[in-house]
Amino acid sequence: MALLEIIGITRRFGDFEAVKNVSFAVESGEFFTLLGPSGCGKTTILRMVAGFDLPDGGRILLDERDLAATPAEKRPIHTVFQSYALFPHLTVGQNVAFPLRMAKVAEAELKRRVGETLEQVHLAELAEHYPHEISGGQKQRVALARGLVNKPRLLLLDEPLGALDLKLREEMQLELIKLQREVGVTFMFVTHAQPEALALSHRIAVMNQGRIEQLDVPSKIYGFPTNRFVADFIGNCNLLEVRVVERRDGELRLEAAGLGKVVAPASEAVGDRGVLALRPEQVRIFAAPLEGG
Ligand SMILES: Nc1ncnc2c1ncn2[C@@H]1O[C@H](COP(=O)(O)OP(=O)(O)O)[C@@H](O)[C@H]1O
Ligand SMILES: [Mg+2]
Repeated sequence: MALLEIIGITRRFGDFEAVKNVSFAVESGEFFTLLGPSGCGKTTILRMVAGFDLPDGGRILLDERDLAATPAEKRPIHTVFQSYALFPHLTVGQNVAFPLRMAKVAEAELKRRVGETLEQVHLAELAEHYPHEISGGQKQRVALARGLVNKPRLLLLDEPLGALDLKLREEMQLELIKLQREVGVTFMFVTHAQPEALALSHRIAVMNQGRIEQLDVPSKIYGFPTNRFVADFIGNCNLLEVRVVERRDGELRLEAAGLGKVVAPASEAVGDRGVLALRPEQVRIFAAPLEGG
């Protein structure tokens, strides 16, 4: 049974439909990513899962229970924002302890869990520092630690690495993967950066204009995009208009404008016209034409 089930959710702002009848499920222990261009509805979905916003239609289930009547603070879900949202007047340790204080966890237990979580994100030595005394990458770790300390069933991460420079961002990507494995918390991650999604995720839902265009493992999203939007959005891709000349033995013989005859694995595609998506690294150039080409 999936941990989180989203069944046909819709969210309208006036006449504008930001999320259009979206359904998907996230498995327990999964690193699941919503990927899509800015404005496609990622944050809106996250906010509804967190309980900061309500869908106009559809249902959200966690452990098979409908969340509609559960306010944000009662959901076993935590959100990490790009802006970190740390309390400036609290130390690193106090920031991380905050969710436990809210939950009235006893002092000894609180100390133990804060210590353990700070170890996990390599911040133990900075426990007494204030947010203005630490770097951006370290602030991001504090925000992560604060999200994990209460052992949520689900951690929502909204472009958490967006504010970091490229080098730090790549370092943090590796740490995120390690951390997620170590703590075993289910991650629902949001990004508009496709290399990040491909590097981090068990599965990716590629979104466009309020809908999911394709949901699959990274290798399938990259290697077998099911439509033009996904092919174009993920990685470098040449899109060529083609005509189907012949169809046999699981192969399509195609005529591509400007390229000539091409043989491609047959997809489920029907019709005799379409688009061939060709990754640059898949292209080999030979001096002589292939037999029967
Ligand atoms: N509170 C709101 N009122 C009106 N429009 C909104 C509101 N929140 C989001 N939107 C619109 O909904 C669309 C999706 O927004 P968002 O979910 O924030 O996108 P993303 O996170 O993918 O960049 C955008 O066009 C945005 O302008
Ligand atoms: Mg957003």
